[in-house]
Amino acid sequence: MKLLGKTAIVTGGSSGIGEAIVRLFAAEGANVVIANRNVSDAARLTEQLGGSAIAVQTDVSKEEDVRQLMEEAVRRFGRIDVVVNNAATIMPKYLEEFEEEEWDRIFNVNLKSVFLMIKHSIAELKKTRGSIVNMSSLNGLIGQKMNPVYAATKGGMNALTKALALDYAPYGVRVNCICPAGVTTPLLEQWISQQDDPVQTVQDLNAMHPLGRPATSDEVAQTALFLASDSSGFVTGVALPVDGGASLGY
Ligand SMILES: NC(=O)c1ccc[n+]([C@@H]2O[C@H](COP(=O)([O-])OP(=O)(O)OC[C@H]3O[C@@H](n4cnc5c(N)ncnc54)[C@H](O)[C@@H]3O)[C@@H](O)[C@H]2O)c1
Repeated sequence: MKLLGKTAIVTGGSSGIGEAIVRLFAAEGANVVIANRNVSDAARLTEQLGGSAIAVQTDVSKEEDVRQLMEEAVRRFGRIDVVVNNAATIMPKYLEEFEEEEWDRIFNVNLKSVFLMIKHSIAELKKTRGSIVNMSSLNGLIGQKMNPVYAATKGGMNALTKALALDYAPYGVRVNCICPAGVTTPLLEQWISQQDDPVQTVQDLNAMHPLGRPATSDEVAQTALFLASDSSGFVTGVALPVDGGASLGY
């Protein structure tokens, strides 16, 4: 078991990729803290996983919620080894259609949350020589049509990952991010339904990935496990595409 005796916090851990990470980390021996706005979904998951997982109602964009989350994690499990910053929200439309409040909300949920989560866990992560895994996106590396604000948050996340990898390397804390292209989850299905022609979008999505389809949540969770565990002990500051070749050229 690759995470035996370790404690991992997974934001947005009750659906999609986050849920797959929670299930895999628990199966690999970790105690898992699910940090989610919607605690009833998370409670369904913790019931299935038994004592190895707890849910803490957390709005990751609120500093007081995040501070209490860390307190609760340490109170229940005594340590923090892994932080997975996975919670996010998406709003695909052109830049000029955004209200200021919408820009702020997306940045707060997707990027300010990463600042808050790391600010309030880094003292514990230094004690355990822990690992931070940020769930970014391929569009933070190469851009994406009609999704500029979300892409800006993910580009910011990639830069933050690299800068923090330098700052925390002397403490043995590694910081990496994962850059998936399409992953079949509720977030992707929401994005598809908001396109002008959803059926065509599904075909385009398959064609966009040289491997012929979007990733599954489990495939992304396996990458998170690699980055969270000692298997990647000499890997830090990486923005790792998990994209079925979508970032490759012609
Ligand atoms: N699905 C994809 O195609 C895809 C591609 C690239 C990157 N990603 C990234 O993967 C991550 C997970 O996405 P997903 O597809 O599983 O989506 P999802 O919508 O299933 O999961 C997002 C989770 O974040 C939670 N969340 C949202 N706002 C929150 C807040 N303020 N506080 C706490 N929790 C909050 C939601 O409740 C939900 O559980 C995101 O960071 C997303 O940007 C997804």
